[in-house]
Amino acid sequence: MSVARRSSRITIPELASRKGGEPIAILTAYTAPIAGLVDPHVDALLVGDSLGMVVYGLPSTLAVTLDMMIAHGKAVVSASAHAAVIVDLPFGSYQVSPAQAFASAARVMAETGCDAVKLEGGTEMAPTVTFLVERGIPVMGHVGLTPQSVNTLGGYRARGRDDADAGRIQDDAAAISDAGAFAIVIEGTVDPVARRITEAISAPTIGIGASPACDGQVLVIDDVLGLAGDFKPKFVRRYVDLGSQIAEAAAAYSADVKSHRFPGPEHLYGVSKARA
Ligand code: KIV
Repeated sequence: MSVARRSSRITIPELASRKGGEPIAILTAYTAPIAGLVDPHVDALLVGDSLGMVVYGLPSTLAVTLDMMIAHGKAVVSASAHAAVIVDLPFGSYQVSPAQAFASAARVMAETGCDAVKLEGGTEMAPTVTFLVERGIPVMGHVGLTPQSVNTLGGYRARGRDDADAGRIQDDAAAISDAGAFAIVIEGTVDPVARRITEAISAPTIGIGASPACDGQVLVIDDVLGLAGDFKPKFVRRYVDLGSQIAEAAAAYSADVKSHRFPGPEHLYGVSKARA
């Protein structure tokens, strides 16, 4: 009889217990090489449906499919060993009913080996969150600026600027926390509202364009690495400009090929060292 290897990954209950403690650091990851590099340094890897825009160049996240999320989720799980892996449920895969959400989430969990799923939405999604959690699927919520609702929100502007909108987001976060989410992403929401939510709810909050008061932060890896082109949202800190370095490397390679400096003798098979 074979015995499954014990995983040393950070667990979902460990993340949930970090409310008000050491801030939770999360980065998105979509591919095996990046997941392997980032994994030792963060508490969780989020396979976000932002991959539609970041990896596939789509205009929004709306066309991302369950199959895409599963393919990238598998790659990230297989290349990581330390961080918890959370995979987004894409648009249209969970909003119809709790049963539809369970079927999608169960596929994602079984086929990728991830630790949890994330879904967007507020009070309207609370029964779905409870349905999943009661059936063994840990859920991360996502409130505030929810990109899958870009068409009803009318764009990607920060939310919570007036009392009515602030109240809606607070109610959303409270409903998803009470429904059993182990953590909640607050995206694109003015600082005082994200701060109030963090104080009010029992689930750890994970900010992106929200507040340093949140219990953790998440950023899109391509933004952090300078791979997202010239546009840098206000809430992003770029830690390295890999975009420029990649362009320089490609230009140097091309120049070497055109001037016969590459390949060099050290790159050839079947040529003796003496002749090389
Ligand atoms: O899809 C994603 O990458 C996300 C993060 C921005 C929170 O949902």
